[in-house]
Amino acid sequence: MGCDVKDLGLAGKGRERIEWAAGEMPVLALIRERFEKERPLEGIRVGACLHVTTETANLMETLAAGGAEVALCASNPLSTQDDVAAALCEQGGIQTNAIRGEDTETFFRHINAVLDTRPHITMDDGADMVSVLHKERQDQIAEILGGTEETTTGVIRLRAMAADGALRYPIVSVNDADTKHLFDNRFGTGQSTMDAIMRATNRLLAGRTIVVCGYGMCGRGVASRARGMGAHVIVTEVDPTPALEAMMEGYRVMPLLEAARVGDIFITVTGDKAVIRREHMDRMKDGAILANSGHFDVEIDKEALGTIAEGRVRRIREFVDEYTTGDGRRLHLLGEGRLVNLAAAEGHPAAVMDMSFANQALAAEWVVKNAASLSPQVYEVPREIDKEVARLKLRAMGVEIDTLTEEQEEYLRSWQEGT
Ligand code: ADE
Repeated sequence: MGCDVKDLGLAGKGRERIEWAAGEMPVLALIRERFEKERPLEGIRVGACLHVTTETANLMETLAAGGAEVALCASNPLSTQDDVAAALCEQGGIQTNAIRGEDTETFFRHINAVLDTRPHITMDDGADMVSVLHKERQDQIAEILGGTEETTTGVIRLRAMAADGALRYPIVSVNDADTKHLFDNRFGTGQSTMDAIMRATNRLLAGRTIVVCGYGMCGRGVASRARGMGAHVIVTEVDPTPALEAMMEGYRVMPLLEAARVGDIFITVTGDKAVIRREHMDRMKDGAILANSGHFDVEIDKEALGTIAEGRVRRIREFVDEYTTGDGRRLHLLGEGRLVNLAAAEGHPAAVMDMSFANQALAAEWVVKNAASLSPQVYEVPREIDKEVARLKLRAMGVEIDTLTEEQEEYLRSWQEGT
């Protein structure tokens, strides 16, 4: 098996951390038990391009329990947990090609190593594997039954491909499941982003002004957790509806050019590029901290930061690069502008990844079962799967809910009753 990891000696530590995460992933554990019995993925090769974390390891082992042959590479060069990669390799069975800090060439070599296993199912976080397949390896697309996509950015790319008529196989948008984006994007990104900023900087957040760029599900989570830490939160948006929602949630809303003058910490979570640009950096205070929690490292214009600093750059702490401007202001970029929650912390906690990855496992099973009737488009996770994940999660949390009476069911089906 062609693994490429940093150090197999880290496997023991990785195995303990994978087990620790498993304790918070009861829904995935139930699916794994069923998969072990039913083997719904027997004979299926899965190629996964995901953040190589303890939670992902649990997903990979669930797929393997279902009979799949699994190969895994990283969906971001800075998010790999080397001990986890080592543990997956040592155990055998799961080819892992991922090294934290790998350069762009290695990153793509690893994607290609996974594609060399000729997967029937692709599992992406950001659509880089799908992109390589469509641009460089079209010859193997005919062997692919379908794929899944984990994140908002990846789904945006896939929808653009579908609209262009370029998408050549069916992909399930796991991100769009309620039990994914309402929890992982909001509570996961919210907590892990604040966790990463605190780990990287050890700064007090209470009383500081935190500017959250983007008020999608991730932005909502970050803003609410920042407020919970005692920060004054400003939201910037381009869409009037979420801007209005942020306003009514009690945040200040203003253009980034205005926020740039007063912010202490800036966090991008938009999914778009060049959100924080030179004109914003020119107005920032000495000591400002810049962090990105969007999928790609394009939200903060790093080139502009470099130009402003003209070489006056130093790594002042692990994960903190200090750029000094011509007029002596220090701007601090966290985690090289890569998604800070995975670069400087451990990503979303296992309890939310439990639901995201339960959807991933069940979506893969659904693709295998339904492959013959699917066409090349972006599919939603079937509603029954989404609801089942919510039900199982509640049960695991020991929470019961009510059920509709016959009379209520009937009322909802009828239209005659009214005023
Ligand atoms: N994306 C965000 N957090 C993650 C995690 N802990 N594992 C895998 N993917 C993630």
